[in-house]
Amino acid sequence: MSAQLTATAAIVLAAGQGTRMRSRLPKVLHPIAGRSLLDHVLDVLAGVGIARPVVVTGHGAELVEEAIATRAATARQAIQRGTADAVRVGLGAVPRVVRTVLVTMGDAPLQPASLFRSLLDEREAGDPAIALASAHLTDATGYGRVLRGTDGGAASIVEEADADEITRAVNEINVGTYAFDAPWLRDALNRVTASAAGEQYLTDLVALAVADGRAVRIVEADDAADTIGINDRLTLAAAEERMRRRIVEGHMRNGVTIVDPGTTRIDATVEIGQDARIEPWTILEGATVIAEDAMIGPNAHVRDSRIGPRTRVWASVVEESAVAEEVQIGPFAHLRPGSDVGARCRIGNFAEIKQSRLGAGTQQHHFSYLGDAEVGENVNVGAGSVTANFDGTAKHRTVIGDGASIGVDTMMVAPVTIGRGATTGAGSVVTRDVGPGKKVVGVPARPIELRRRAQSEPAGRQK
Ligand code: UD1
Ligand code: CA
Repeated sequence: MSAQLTATAAIVLAAGQGTRMRSRLPKVLHPIAGRSLLDHVLDVLAGVGIARPVVVTGHGAELVEEAIATRAATARQAIQRGTADAVRVGLGAVPRVVRTVLVTMGDAPLQPASLFRSLLDEREAGDPAIALASAHLTDATGYGRVLRGTDGGAASIVEEADADEITRAVNEINVGTYAFDAPWLRDALNRVTASAAGEQYLTDLVALAVADGRAVRIVEADDAADTIGINDRLTLAAAEERMRRRIVEGHMRNGVTIVDPGTTRIDATVEIGQDARIEPWTILEGATVIAEDAMIGPNAHVRDSRIGPRTRVWASVVEESAVAEEVQIGPFAHLRPGSDVGARCRIGNFAEIKQSRLGAGTQQHHFSYLGDAEVGENVNVGAGSVTANFDGTAKHRTVIGDGASIGVDTMMVAPVTIGRGATTGAGSVVTRDVGPGKKVVGVPARPIELRRRAQSEPAGRQK
């Protein structure tokens, strides 16, 4: 096994401009299901044991190379002279010891690992010069057509532009993924001549192999729809839909209930535990982890967050936050980045939290805001309560101790600390720290006994 792996390399072609995308972003960096087209291809290659392929960059090379980071080696094709030239550039970064080199396109993200594996197996089995992937399409327009020889292998590939009427009627297309005999490939690439339009076609290698007396084997894709290359925003959306369906089905096979796959969008990067239940119209994005038995949706949007076991997120938005077990969120709550919500909390209607930690068992109901707050356990945050955390220049922290009771419509003017077990009255504006167990009321909030004493004194002495 390992001997075969060290003898196998891969080249991913990604230097083309992708004109039909009409985009400032290089085509292979467009995302579907939360990952770039190129990342999807690199994921599949990693899945067949090719951890560090060579990506041929050109158009938008800086951006593409930055996105690749350490995931792959890169080789720059300065001028896009065609796919044969691109492979020649890529081969420059492939060690001589490599026996088989897999070549694929960076814009074909749906190709399954099984197709790559079959091509590698076919190449290793009978030592053909090329094993290439084909697919049967009802409309083959735009693709290179595979013409078969008498042995059932490929005799040649004819590009659309060079095809006559009879060839155009052929519906077996060249997918653009191949496993090559690497030493043969190095030599044969020197013999490819430019087309009338000045392009060097990789597909010319098929006829060259046959002329060399070498076989060209064909591996038919199980499902032609998996082989599509993205050329414009329409094929991008079609690929997105197909990828999302595949992801959702994968979760269902793993024991997640997805009530309505058609209205559920889950990025490729999301993890979901067993027996979680995803209700309709739910979007799960980025580095999100949903624990077992959680119930998400309907109408939930969770991005880059961790949701604990048995927690329910209902019609709410959760971003870059952590939510512990058995929490109830929503409907209509918004957890902004940096929210850390403890076990069994209740976050209610129109509650917003940002950069705040809530201890276990705390409740925050009805249109309230906690920003830059450290909230203890079993705190009750009354309706309409707000941390006034911004003084126009800087953000300040609010600290609320365990078991405190924040009365409805309390304004907490930060920086401020409300002690353990303290109480604030309805409508109080808390501008000074409140000691543990104290009760404050009014505007500005004062300890209730001071305020009572003041009220019982003669009017003239009141301050
Ligand atoms: C190519 C194939 C065609 C096949 C189709 C499948 C050739 C000549 N034709 O056609 O048989 O049916 O793919 O989608 O190979 N690229 C470079 N450098 C270049 C030119 C292209 O890196 O100089 C890259 C592109 O970024 C792209 C890939 O190669 O990822 C394919 O190039 P493209 O121009 O899209 O080829 P097609 O016309 O689609
Ligand atoms: Ca293409």
